[in-house]
Order: sequence, then C-alpha cells, then structure tokens
Amino acid sequence: MRQITENIYAVGIVDWNVRKFHGNTYITKKGATYNSYLITGKEPVLIDVVHKGFEEEFLSNISEIIDPKEIKHIVLNHLEPDHSGSLEYVAEMCPNAKFYATAKLKEGASKYYKLNIEINTVKTGNSFNTGDYTFKFIEVPMIHWPDSMMTYCPEKKILFSNDAFGQHITSNKLFDDEIDRADLFKEAKKYYANILWALGSIIQRKLTELAAMNLEIEMIAPSHGMIWRKEISGIMELYMQWAQNKTENKAVIVYETMWGSTEIMAKEILKGLTSKAIDAKLFDIASTDFGELAYEMLEAKTFIIGSSTHDNEMLPYIAGFLYFLKGLKPQKRTAFAFGSYGWAGGAVKDIVETLKSSGIEVIGQTDAKFKPDSSELKKCFDAGVMLAEKLN
Ligand code: FEO
Repeated sequence: MRQITENIYAVGIVDWNVRKFHGNTYITKKGATYNSYLITGKEPVLIDVVHKGFEEEFLSNISEIIDPKEIKHIVLNHLEPDHSGSLEYVAEMCPNAKFYATAKLKEGASKYYKLNIEINTVKTGNSFNTGDYTFKFIEVPMIHWPDSMMTYCPEKKILFSNDAFGQHITSNKLFDDEIDRADLFKEAKKYYANILWALGSIIQRKLTELAAMNLEIEMIAPSHGMIWRKEISGIMELYMQWAQNKTENKAVIVYETMWGSTEIMAKEILKGLTSKAIDAKLFDIASTDFGELAYEMLEAKTFIIGSSTHDNEMLPYIAGFLYFLKGLKPQKRTAFAFGSYGWAGGAVKDIVETLKSSGIEVIGQTDAKFKPDSSELKKCFDAGVMLAEKLN
C-alpha cells in the first residue's frame, strides 16, 4: 500500500520493464508508471485508471485499501490508452461509481471501448463533493489530447495533472524529493520534449490561466512518475520556459553516414564549434533513439543535420528523424545542413527543404564529394566557427 497523505493512496502501476512508449520513438530506459489515485472517505473517489494488461494488479492495489465496489466516483482525466486501457474492466469492478470526463473523452471512449456506463460530461468550473472533499475540473485540451483535463482537490491542495508534469521514471518511492534530483528533471524534460513540445502555445496559455486561478497547490500528482511536492514552482517555471521555446546557445549535430565521410564532416564542424567554446554535442542517428535527441534538442538553438546521399536522397533514418522533428514544431531555431555524395548529390537539398518546411531557419550548407579533402574539411570547420559566432 502506498499512502500519499491521509485518505489518499497511489494505486496505479509501476511498469518497470516497458521500453517503448508512444510507438517506437520514445525509449523508456527507466520504465514508466500509470498513476492512479484513490481518495477514501465518505464517498471514495478514483482518479484515472491504468494501461490495459495491468487490470488484476490495479484491482489488487485498490483492494488492499477498500472494496472496489465502494468507489462512488471515478474521474477520467484523459482518454489515451495508457490511462484508460483498463476502463471496461474497471467499469465492471466498480458498479457503484459515477464517471466524470470531458465530452471529448466520452466521445472517444465510445470508439475505443464497449462500455455499459454513463459518463457524466464536465467542464472547467464543474465539481462534485463527497461530503469531505471537493473535486474541481479544469479542462486542458491538447495537454495532451483534446479530451484532457486536470482535477483539483482544494481540501487537500492537490492538483491531479494527468500527463502534464509527468516523467517516465520508475521507483518504489512516490515523491520528487525521494529520488535523484538530476534524474527527475532529466526525465521531466525528456517527457516534455517527446510528449508536449509541439503544444507550447497551448501550454503557455493554460499555465497562465492556471496561475490566474490562484489555486493553493501543495502537491502536483501527475499520471506518470513522481508526485511533485518540493519542486512545484521549479517544474512550473521550466514548463513555461519550454513552452516559450526558450533556447540556450547550444548546438546539436545529428547525422547519418554510409561510408564514414559524412561522419568526418560532422566531427570537423564540431571542431569549429569547439574552437569557439560552444556547447555542442554530436549524435549518429544509427546509435541514438529519437526520444533522446528530442531531449537534447529541446533547449538547443542550432540544429546541424547531415546525411550521405543515397539514390539522390538523404538516408532513411535521418529522413525519419527529420519528420519526427518537424512534428515537434520547434520554434526560434537555426540550422545547418551537410553531407557527402558520390556523383549527383541530393541529401543536403533534401535536408534543407525539410528543415525549412519545419519552420526552421537554415543559415548554411556544405557538401563533400566521396571523401572530404582538405578544402572541404576547411569548409566544415569554418561552418562550425560561423555557427558558433552566430550563437555567441
Ligand atoms: Fe499519458 Fe497522453 O497519455
């Protein structure tokens, strides 16, 4: 049994072994959790259900505290299957519960599931009371899906934030101050980069609205990862910075190479950046997952993208990555394209076009035939220096 505070329990799932989340791009090296919260008292409340496949463990977690049939209210903050996948099962196990969700969730749930329950649709400002606690709903459409909402309990000063402020991290601890701080913030940033980066303008607006509500918040209980109780203002400030696409004077080089020439170019560009003491990192797409790159690029001002030419095109993994990056909708970024070719070329042109179509300003490009010679290497080094000077 994992108690958070008087009458509130963590009854969700710690999925220690999941390594792919959200399709194939987000590699969760530290697993993930599907948090659910049980509030006992006069009329027990369950906030969110969990991923399909964990039904029995979930039921067991609840049953350690109360009989699931005693649950009177179930709040569904988000439809995505990591939070709703066990809904059919929960609906059967909790026959005396009223369900609450947004109209969008209700609509989507009817497509995902065969349900014999009535879902009460709620909006921002609606609430219910259990006799000892109040639960107020705050719609947060697109954080992370159109159906998303948060739920606030004023008596406990807890904001159940669902996806917002989550992290994919596993622990038998519950709170932010019980695990390594650097790990916590790294995973919160990686989560934001992969799940929420594209939604920055909405997040800015919602954070501003939340601040205007003047909620007293002693805990933020997300549906992934640790509960925030010590670093609440810290994570909120970071969310605002990330949502505003604030960047640092950093460069990230990502490339795909066929016979090593593009890699030689990448390292020469890095030398140019290093000569000007710029914080820069270099990644071969063949050995780095997309999710890790999103983390590295979230605060980087300049993206430097390279590929060898293959059949007049860029290579396929870097092409896939650039489409992934485009979906993240990075703003206020600059980029540089480079790559080697044998005869006709094509990769650099592809990279430039894809970056431009992503709203990224391309400030230069260079290429090299077969293997970069001294003059082509100098162009790479000089490109690194030029990029560094622009960053400075
Ligand atoms: Fe954790 Fe958008 O689901």
